[in-house]
Amino acid sequence: MNTKFRKIGVLTSGGDAPGMNACVRAVTRTALAHGIEVVGILGGYSGLLNNNMKPLGHNDVSNIVNRGSTFLYSDRCLEFKTEEGMQKAVQCCKDNGIDGIVCIGGDGTFRGATDLSNRGIPTIGLTGSIDNDITASDYTIGFDTAMNTVCEMIDRLRDTCESHARCNVVEVMGRDCGEIALRTGIACGAVAVAIPELPFDEAAAIAKIKELKAGGKRNMIVIVSEGLGKYSEELAKKIDAETGIETKFARLAHVVRGGNPTLRDRLTAAEMGTMAVKLMLEGKSNLVVVERNGELVSCDINYSHIVDRMYKNKLKEGDLDPYSEEEIASMKELCAYRKSEIERLYKIAADLA
Ligand code: F6P
Repeated sequence: MNTKFRKIGVLTSGGDAPGMNACVRAVTRTALAHGIEVVGILGGYSGLLNNNMKPLGHNDVSNIVNRGSTFLYSDRCLEFKTEEGMQKAVQCCKDNGIDGIVCIGGDGTFRGATDLSNRGIPTIGLTGSIDNDITASDYTIGFDTAMNTVCEMIDRLRDTCESHARCNVVEVMGRDCGEIALRTGIACGAVAVAIPELPFDEAAAIAKIKELKAGGKRNMIVIVSEGLGKYSEELAKKIDAETGIETKFARLAHVVRGGNPTLRDRLTAAEMGTMAVKLMLEGKSNLVVVERNGELVSCDINYSHIVDRMYKNKLKEGDLDPYSEEEIASMKELCAYRKSEIERLYKIAADLA
């Protein structure tokens, strides 16, 4: 065993996601099996600022593999974003003899993990977010459960739309990422999907709804990603006014973040959690575990952070300076791939409407 890690912390941060508990369980049990002590840091990074943590034993992670939410709680911690906050967190790790931290969450969590790594606290990031918006990874824990919940809700709305010959515009979460909207749009047979990544042809969507109505279709589901702001509500009003179809609006919001994780999320959580500890046992850190083409691999945490900024058009001056031409080319390639996947799925959604 690599003695560098005798005691590790594990935290969940940002928006909770079904499967986070299964992931904490996997990290804890794998670490304990290798003689590494584990502490659960409570409330995400704010737990590091307030020294709020508890030791985790085998039984402390019993009966959570099937549960949504995160028993370590979560937070979006503004203080941690300041240099003072980060130094406080580093000191807290030192005071508690924490040799490294597994950070489970989305892009904000990864930014925090990067900040800790860069200040000497080894971290491993695991992707946990319903949004599937980590550019370096094909998948984030919680995405499958969230999409299944959306499907279930929309199937119900479709039932009542069919009875009353109505349209329902449904806004789904995802922050600036349209993946939940896009994939559930295909799976639920939406007549139109609007996402932040691509321009939405409103006139074409309304024409399509009219055409489908003329052809005898009674239920119309339109899915809009929350990244488009208030547009979802406006669109519902426009469809109502321009097609003559009574149109309802539903915002699924946080309901999609709860619930028991699906098998896909439990398995991914178990595998990612196990891999995080194995990497630490090999003496490795400052990495994120990501899924690429169905396989779990690790990639440098800073690289993951910067490629994410590149994809989201948030690059800051100097961000690319530490990287070679080949690395920058590989980042661009990954961003182009993500974009092309969105375009491919968008076309399928449109073709099947
Ligand atoms: O990142 C997960 C997510 O649920 C997003 O889809 C959404 O935009 C955001 O979190 C909501 O955040 P909060 O729970 O702080 O309202």
